[in-house]
Amino acid sequence: MKSEILALLRQRGDFVSGQELCERFQVSRTAVWKAVGQLKKEGYEIQAVQNKGYLLTDGGEFFGQNELESRMATRWAGHPLTYYETIGSTNLQAKMDAENGAPQGALVVADMQTAGRGRRGRSWNSPPGTNVYFTLLLKPDFSPDQAAMLTPVMALAVAEGIRRTCGLTPGIKWPNDVLIGDKKVCGILAELSVEQDFIHYVVIGVGINVGLQEFPPEVAPKAACLQQECGRRVDRAQLVADVMDAFEAYYQVFLESGDLSGLAGQYNSLLVNVDREVKVLDPKGEWSGISHGITPTGELRVERADGVETLVYAGEVSVRGRNGYV
Ligand code: BTN
Repeated sequence: MKSEILALLRQRGDFVSGQELCERFQVSRTAVWKAVGQLKKEGYEIQAVQNKGYLLTDGGEFFGQNELESRMATRWAGHPLTYYETIGSTNLQAKMDAENGAPQGALVVADMQTAGRGRRGRSWNSPPGTNVYFTLLLKPDFSPDQAAMLTPVMALAVAEGIRRTCGLTPGIKWPNDVLIGDKKVCGILAELSVEQDFIHYVVIGVGINVGLQEFPPEVAPKAACLQQECGRRVDRAQLVADVMDAFEAYYQVFLESGDLSGLAGQYNSLLVNVDREVKVLDPKGEWSGISHGITPTGELRVERADGVETLVYAGEVSVRGRNGYV
């Protein structure tokens, strides 16, 4: 009930009477008063005035269970939501939750990770109080080879979430890094539990650099944070809610065709390096070509010097712009 009270007070932006809260949530005045008291203890500034009711005054940024729940506007993506102040890795936690029967849509969010995981066995810098780390659990009934298309769906959702929350238009570096300008603000790591032709579950982990921070030297040259780019504080809870909202809609589009055909146009419009020269860092040998965007199944179309188009599959292959990361 605390998150619902919070959502109502925020939405109203004015006093809400105790009577209305009692009726809305079918509880006693004492229960409302207690819930408001707990919210105040958590740091929310809520004025209680006789004959007027309760008013939420702006108390700065909150990032926690109630705040996140109160912002969530989705039907299933992000429910249930579990917030941790500190966790090893939200991906690992989501996998454990999946093994223990958590439903599709369950979301693990953390303020800090002590063992954040990146792609290719790298770690993900996860300091407290400044960024967003979350993992969404899916239990799809399509085939395992379609699962690789879920990371581009999430990349689009993150780009849209950033656009809504901060007004910036991000780019996407194939397959799923989200950029502002030529710097990475978000990484996505999807992990699957598969048995033969059957997906047990997929977890999609997202790390977004939000607040001003000092990056470790190895990532500093190519990392950005949203606050720096948009010049004001970014509400982390709203960002998570906006990404979930966008993901729910895009996932529906994806399910309708079973591939990216309904999303490829939008994805390609954000994709950096379209119609430009890229280097394909294939473990079997590096080569160059002109990138022409993704196919409906998510491969990158790259035209070699002889005019032949090659489809590049995500995985071990990395694609860079001519002179660097982007
Ligand atoms: C990348 O290397 O680009 C992917 C980074 C993914 C990081 C996120 S943070 C939340 C989730 N939990 C993890 O341990 N990793 C992902």
